[in-house]
Amino acid sequence: MKHIKKIIGVASGKGGVGKSTVAVNLALALARTGSQVGILDADIYGPSQPMMLNAVGVKPVLQDGGLLPVVRLGLQSMSIGYLIEETAPMVWRGPMIGKALQQLLQDTHWDALDYLIVDLPPGTGDVQLTLCQKIPVSGIVMVTTPQDLALSDVRRACEMFHKLNVPILGVVENMSIYHCPHCGHEEHLFGAGGGEKLAQQYGLTMLGSIPLDIKIREMTDSGHPPVAKEPAGPHAKAFYAVAEKVIAKLALQPKDYSSVFPKIVVEKNK
Ligand SMILES: Nc1ncnc2c1ncn2[C@@H]1O[C@H](COP(=O)(O)OP(=O)(O)OP(=O)(O)O)[C@@H](O)[C@H]1O
Ligand SMILES: [Mg+2]
Ligand SMILES: [Zn+2]
Repeated sequence: MKHIKKIIGVASGKGGVGKSTVAVNLALALARTGSQVGILDADIYGPSQPMMLNAVGVKPVLQDGGLLPVVRLGLQSMSIGYLIEETAPMVWRGPMIGKALQQLLQDTHWDALDYLIVDLPPGTGDVQLTLCQKIPVSGIVMVTTPQDLALSDVRRACEMFHKLNVPILGVVENMSIYHCPHCGHEEHLFGAGGGEKLAQQYGLTMLGSIPLDIKIREMTDSGHPPVAKEPAGPHAKAFYAVAEKVIAKLALQPKDYSSVFPKIVVEKNK
């Protein structure tokens, strides 16, 4: 995909661990470095990005047989949520899901993206398979809560990406430290450094920890994620750290020059 430099999937073993929250704030953090960033909401069943980008009810403009991305908070975005009515539950069969994802990606007129963040549904289903098999993904950011890192869901998801030859950039430990909004004290609900230890055990890089904080939920769920609303505030910081690590990890990846070289065929002398 010529007009997208790097595609990064945000995945998790199970649902509700904060993928969409991490995806949108990571996208905003990357955009603050001066990069052009897009976010593709690949959660066909429960799209969250229209809400998190304060764009519920927005309809993308049709142009040249494709769709213009919905631009919000400086991000180019596309979501199935822009295209179907919220009240009409869709029944998706496996092949349809893959098709829908490919269309959302390929029929959107992304404008020269440095990064496209793909917010995935939880688990190891058809969306993940399509993403890895049909789309050149540079890497996966795995989101987990500290207590889930030990669970088999996370391992299973990691194994799937390994098998599909998609590198896992690392793990974001979400909802790790609890900040009490009343007295300001901090509590390591699941023990300090637990995530770090487990990441090491599985040979994964820790990309950072995001505290459990009601402000993160309130801001993100109301369409004003902390990185956009309070970029200098305490809640944005944790996401910058993750973005820095992601950029560094991607920079360390070997470059694929296979497309610029002609195909070399070795033949026996006749
Ligand atoms: N660090 C955090 N502190 C407080 N609330 C959070 C945090 N991260 C996420 N949340 C909240 O938890 C809920 C679930 O988060 P989110 O929708 O990002 O999870 P998800 O993994 O994308 O879920 P799904 O599997 O349904 O797609 C949301 O209401 C979100 O605002
Ligand atoms: Mg989600
Ligand atoms: Zn307190």
